[in-house]
Amino acid sequence: SRVVKLAVIPGDGIGPEVIAQAEKVLDAVTAHSDVTFERTRFSLGADRYLATGDTLTDDDLAAIAAHDAILLGAVGGVPGDPRLREANIERGLLLKLRFALDHYVNLRPSKLYPGAAGPLADPGDIDFVVVREGTEGPYVGNGGSIRTGTPHEVANETSVNTAYGIERVVRYAFELAERRRRRLTLVHKTNVLVHAGGMWKRIVDTVAAEHPEVAVDYLHVDAATIFLVTNPDRFDVIVTDNLFGDILTDLAGAVTGGIGLAASGNINPDGVFPSMFEPVHGSAPDIAGRQLADPTAAILSVALMLDHLGLQDEAQRVTRAAEADIAARDGNPRTTTQIGDAIASRLA
Ligand code: NAD
Ligand code: IPM
Ligand code: MN
Repeated sequence: SRVVKLAVIPGDGIGPEVIAQAEKVLDAVTAHSDVTFERTRFSLGADRYLATGDTLTDDDLAAIAAHDAILLGAVGGVPGDPRLREANIERGLLLKLRFALDHYVNLRPSKLYPGAAGPLADPGDIDFVVVREGTEGPYVGNGGSIRTGTPHEVANETSVNTAYGIERVVRYAFELAERRRRRLTLVHKTNVLVHAGGMWKRIVDTVAAEHPEVAVDYLHVDAATIFLVTNPDRFDVIVTDNLFGDILTDLAGAVTGGIGLAASGNINPDGVFPSMFEPVHGSAPDIAGRQLADPTAAILSVALMLDHLGLQDEAQRVTRAAEADIAARDGNPRTTTQIGDAIASRLA
């Protein structure tokens, strides 16, 4: 029998609420299988910071890195909370994990499940994956400001893009496209961000030559947001930079029935470090503590994790149970726990 060491980071706001349901589903799907998830719980996030002043210590990071996979709820307090201004939990915890564990593929599938209440009148078959670069771009934190707080303030955020970093994520995206419908769209803003965009374009063209059966196209990010709403079924694999991928995947979540369904994996494909699975959404302070959050995104993130760990059968069972639950939704509100129970009971 196989033992998987899983680090669980419930985090803030609705994070612990949705993770409780994700763990319930993980228990249900592994109840009679020969794989056991040995879990370590890490209390990290805004509450921990406010209590101790720590965000993610070197010891925390080393302990987390010793696991086979990570399941995370959401981190971050109420936007604008003055007590957290100095802390920056998102940078100091979430991005620190993604960067330190070299999660260069941020995998964000978008699928319109039958029965999901999307906002589009005629959506077509939406089924695409955004391969968001996870370790570079404007997210690197390379910036600063001078004369801060004065009318003469200057603030810079430098986007760092390396040929090595782009090529590896582009290769991953092409390999994924080969296993899907063989269409790949690069999204960037090459008309304005000529240096970084030019390099992305050249690298995609070079790797494309090795994949003649993949149809490649390019969209500026502003136009991509139009097509995500007017014609989302045109997409198969989208490869894009860290910031564009962040924005596009919230939009993709909205058009496929809500951010409460959108799952993601922060993948280190080389397997040197544990990959981390989390819903695309945040800690949702506006609904936290009231059992209003949809745990499906966290549950589908468990399916992505199972798939990544080579447990395809378990992954499919979780996905099918979530799909069946979505298809059976009748618009009557259910609590977070009721949705988790319903999905878990389909696995019994
Ligand atoms: P958010 O995703 O938390 O919330 C946006 C909107 O979506 C809110 O109205 C919220 O109620 C709703 N929503 C989110 N998840 C939902 C769910 N499962 N079910 C039903 N509705 C849901 O984004 P935000 O308000 O911009 O950010 C709140 C905090 O979360 C901030 O501190 C932000 O930095 C952080 N954040 C963290 C992560 C993460 O941990 N991966 C991701 C995004 C934002
Ligand atoms: C996400 C979040 C994070 C991001 C923030 C909280 C750092 O929005 O996971 O999409 O921008 O990547
Ligand atoms: Mn985001």
